[in-house]
Amino acid sequence: MKLVIKYSKEKIKSTKNQCLVLFLSDTKPSLSALSPELKAVVQQAYKIKSFSGKAESTLTLYPNQETSRLLLVGLGELKNLNAEKLRRIVGIASRILVGMDLDSANILLPKITKKTLVTEIGSLVSEALVLGAYEFRAFKSENLENPKRKEMKITINDLEESTTQLAIQQGIIRAEGVNFARNLGNTPANHLTPNDLAQEAKDLAEQYKLKISILEESDMKQLGMNMFLGVSQGSSEPAKLICLEYKKSENTKTLAIVGKGVTFDSGGISIKPSANMDEMKFDMCGAAAVMGTMKSVGELNPDVNVIGFIAATENMPGASAQRPGDIVTSYSGKTVEILNTDAEGRLILGDTLTYAARNYSPDAIIDLATLTGAAVIALGHYATAAITNHDELLSQVVTAGNNSGERICPMPNFPEYAEALTGKYGDLQNIGGRDAGTITAGLFLKNFVEDVPWVHLDIAGTAWGVKNIGYIPHSGATGVGVRLLLNFIENWK
Ligand code: BES
Ligand code: MN
Ligand code: ZN
Repeated sequence: MKLVIKYSKEKIKSTKNQCLVLFLSDTKPSLSALSPELKAVVQQAYKIKSFSGKAESTLTLYPNQETSRLLLVGLGELKNLNAEKLRRIVGIASRILVGMDLDSANILLPKITKKTLVTEIGSLVSEALVLGAYEFRAFKSENLENPKRKEMKITINDLEESTTQLAIQQGIIRAEGVNFARNLGNTPANHLTPNDLAQEAKDLAEQYKLKISILEESDMKQLGMNMFLGVSQGSSEPAKLICLEYKKSENTKTLAIVGKGVTFDSGGISIKPSANMDEMKFDMCGAAAVMGTMKSVGELNPDVNVIGFIAATENMPGASAQRPGDIVTSYSGKTVEILNTDAEGRLILGDTLTYAARNYSPDAIIDLATLTGAAVIALGHYATAAITNHDELLSQVVTAGNNSGERICPMPNFPEYAEALTGKYGDLQNIGGRDAGTITAGLFLKNFVEDVPWVHLDIAGTAWGVKNIGYIPHSGATGVGVRLLLNFIENWK
């Protein structure tokens, strides 16, 4: 459902409220803005302990004709509140609101005095509302008798004037970038091929005046990107290397963001087991993060140039598929022995990283990829693994992770780990064995970045399958990476 969020500093009138959402702390909830009747209803809920204001708790009441629904949402102790806690709480409230299927609702923000929260409260709340309202219904046939509402108006009543419509708008733009990435991630591989990704990129380019270029397989062949082409040759869907550029003439720094866009990863000849193979439609979530970021960047116009690269292909075991043992020459010139065709992400990303480094000379590169199952084993679903060749850049990415709630866990990159990738017959081999799979995958990529400051983010655990975070849907793609990158771009030094 699309939310239209407005800001009002006027007192809520006692005219019709389809739903009033009250955010309340567990100590001394502020009820001064309420009518005596509503105040009594809330006080009663506290008194009989139906509601205590505990963080993430909710209670829906049906007070009277004027306020037909009253949604109480617990904030816990205000002094313990932080950005991520508030995001999760608002996300929970938003999902409940969407479930009510209304035309409009009012939200009453409490007085929040915490310095770090005041400045961003409006953008935090609107971001979490739009994130929490996300549903993926593209492939459900419409119920013609009972059509779902398309849109809901939400008024944020902020009597303390601690936010602005501009801040609210920025939160919406960030969340819509995330929801766009979620849509791409959730769309199955028969409806989202590399060509479809390219079409989506063209639409973005047109809408936000971005420059777009697309390398076709013939272009890649001419350039010598045989490591990328080795992956795509087993599929009848042609691969695409998509490049979207946001530029402002007064900007002095350029960030390249690179996304793994494997629209389906069967494993190729080293085919995957069939259980849960459907989840490999999510193997383009790195690309989705890049696309979602470019969408928001197109609207926010930041003071940094951003170039998005999307390495789009399927990994299929067709008759002309690459075989284990094949040796390919990468765009960089290094030769790589393919020991496992299921370690394909690093192959398409390697050539894409060299292409970005050589032809666009960015000041930094960040790549995002659902690269290894080992990342899920190591960290589960609550942190993205990182590998870098530049600790100072990584520390800024870690900070962006803390700011956005998309947390980053740096992995060690001691030189001994890289030795596992030394090739027997070629310069490199594409797998480093069972041990430290996330690290060796990241260090494989390091060979292809040409000394540009670079951070690799393995989002295999965080791109889907995340539970218990209020603003993330219970299933499907999370859209991870978009808010992280936007925060990094905003603060990059
Ligand atoms: N896309 C997968 C990684 C993946 C697997 C992400 C499961 C999330 C859940 C990647 O292409 C892959 O298959 N990696 C292999 C590497 C191995 C062959 C060295 C893996 O992790 O098993
Ligand atoms: Mn694979
Ligand atoms: Zn893959």
